Amino acid sequence: MSLMMNGLLGAASGFGLACVNKFVEEGAQVVAADMNEAGLAAAYHSAPNSHITIVTANVTVQADWEKLVELAVSKFGGLDILVNNAGTSYKNKPTLEVTEAEFDKVMSVNVKSIYLSILSTLPVLKERGGGSIINISSIGAMRPRPGLVWYNASKSAVANATKGLAAEFGKDQIRINALCPLLSGTGLFEQFVGVPYNEENINNFLSNVPLGRLTDPTDIANIAAYLASDEGKFITGVNWEIDGGRSVGA
Ligand SMILES: NC(=O)c1ccc[n+]([C@@H]2O[C@H](COP(=O)([O-])OP(=O)(O)OC[C@H]3O[C@@H](n4cnc5c(N)ncnc54)[C@H](O)[C@@H]3O)[C@@H](O)[C@H]2O)c1
Ligand SMILES: *[C@@H]1O[C@H](CO)[C@@H](O)[C@H](O)[C@H]1NC(C)=O
Ligand SMILES: *[C@@H]1O[C@H](CO)[C@@H](O)[C@H](O)[C@H]1NC(C)=O
Ligand SMILES: *[C@@H]1O[C@H](CO)[C@@H](O)[C@H](O)[C@H]1NC(C)=O
Repeated sequence: MSLMMNGLLGAASGFGLACVNKFVEEGAQVVAADMNEAGLAAAYHSAPNSHITIVTANVTVQADWEKLVELAVSKFGGLDILVNNAGTSYKNKPTLEVTEAEFDKVMSVNVKSIYLSILSTLPVLKERGGGSIINISSIGAMRPRPGLVWYNASKSAVANATKGLAAEFGKDQIRINALCPLLSGTGLFEQFVGVPYNEENINNFLSNVPLGRLTDPTDIANIAAYLASDEGKFITGVNWEIDGGRSVGA
């Protein structure tokens, strides 16, 4: 199995980095791409691994996608799995204060990236006789709230495209699913929730999460690996809530 992923976190945490570690553990060969060159180098330099090829790429640029696909083919002989993880948001704020540049960026990184990924990877996935595409969306796609309207709308576009693509490419045995994680980590808390990261605000947030905690990156990596593997071979067009029950909470 060879595997290509984009948008991997350059830090010691994050969904992308957790996915790379899990997929390599499961025997995959991975092209780990991110636009953050320094972050990539820091995340992977201490663990040189012939199963990981790191590459700097911008998911909003078509030429970069062509480069990633060529790399997967030349290094690993083909492509079976794509994890679209790169994502961005602006800070939670009144919608009338969102700038045009912020709107364009969120749509470009979260939605156009998927469009470009499909154009460049579908032909190679088809050549292999099938494949699995996993998008990282957000629970915000299912449960929009004030303050992050366009971020959440960008993730809803992903959710809808996931279903449409699954319908179109099922005949090619290409499965397309999305994971919708709950909030994770400390750094993004204020960005997403709009209030500082402190005990009171965390407890307020967690009071609506039946399983009582935030997302751990390994939660996402484990489900991504399952969907990419043969064990998930009858699952396509699903937007899977990985949220500790948040979407059924208050
Ligand atoms: N952290 C959360 O609470 C949370 C919750 C739900 C969904 N998500 C989604 O999960 C995904 C991963 O986020 P994360 O939490 O691991 O942290 P993150 O935001 O740090 O990771 C995103 C990575 O994408 C990269 N990236 C951004 N724009 C890019 C571009 N144009 N080209 C290439 N790479 C680019 C960044 O450099 C970064 O390494 C995102 O799609 C995010 O929207 C996150
Ligand atoms: C990524 O590409 C977009 C154009 O699509 C550009 O606006 C942005 O600055 C680029 N980011 C980096 C870090 O190269
Ligand atoms: C949007 O998504 C964020 C992050 O998942 C979430 O906190 C928020 O409640 C969602 N809804 C809106 C519109 O902000
Ligand atoms: C996507 O669009 C279809 C209509 O084409 C609609 O039935 C469906 O509910 C939408 N799904 C999502 C997740 O938005």
